[in-house]
Amino acid sequence: MELIHVHHPLVDHKLTVLRDKATAPSVFRHLVAELVALLAYEATRQVAIEEIEIETPVSKATGWALKEPRPMVVPVLRAGLGMLDGMLAVLPSAEVGFLGMVRNDESLEIETYAERLPDDLTGRQCFILDPMLATGSTVVEAIEYLLKRGARDVTCISILAARPGLETLEAAVGDRADVRVVVAAVDEKLNDHNYIVPGLGDAGDRLYGVV
Ligand code: URA
Repeated sequence: MELIHVHHPLVDHKLTVLRDKATAPSVFRHLVAELVALLAYEATRQVAIEEIEIETPVSKATGWALKEPRPMVVPVLRAGLGMLDGMLAVLPSAEVGFLGMVRNDESLEIETYAERLPDDLTGRQCFILDPMLATGSTVVEAIEYLLKRGARDVTCISILAARPGLETLEAAVGDRADVRVVVAAVDEKLNDHNYIVPGLGDAGDRLYGVV
C-alpha cells in the first residue's frame, strides 16, 4: 500500500478553513470540492492512458487518451458524495458507482446497506471517496469489496486520515502494491467516539446537516 500525503500550500490553506468550526456549510461544501480536485490531481497520476493519433489544425500528432475501461469513482455514502463534484471536475469521463456502508453499533461490523456497482470490475481502476479515514474499517471493507470484484487497482481519496486508521489499513492491505491512499493530512488520534482529533468534526453533518 502506498500512502500519498499531498503537501501543497493551497491544500493546507483549504484544509484549515474546513477544520474551522465557524466555516458555514455552503463554504464547507465548496472547499471540499476544491480540495478534492487538488487531491485528485495526485491520485490520478497512475491512471491508464494509451497513445493515439490525432490531427491538429496544422498536422498529424501523437497524443494520449484515457484507456478503456473507464475509471470507476465510488463515493462512500453519505459524506463521500460531497467529494464527487471535485473528483468529476478532474476526471469527467469516469463512471460512478455507489457504496453505502455503516458500522453496526452492536456487532461493530461494517454493513453494506446500499450498493450500485457492476458485478465485474475486471481491469477497472477504482477511486474510493471517503473524506474521513478514521478507524479505517469502512475503507478496508470498501477496498476489499472492489478488489474481490476484480478491480485492477484501488485508490482511496480522503481529506483527513487518523494514524490508527492508517495502521488498520496497513495491517489489512499493506502488502498490496495495487492499493493507494491519498490524503491532505494525517492526524494523530481518535477520541472515544472515533472522531479524528483535531479533525474537522462530522464531515457528513457539516456537508448536509444533522439528519
Ligand atoms: N467521520 C467523520 O465525519 N468525522 C470523524 O472525525 C470521523 C469519522
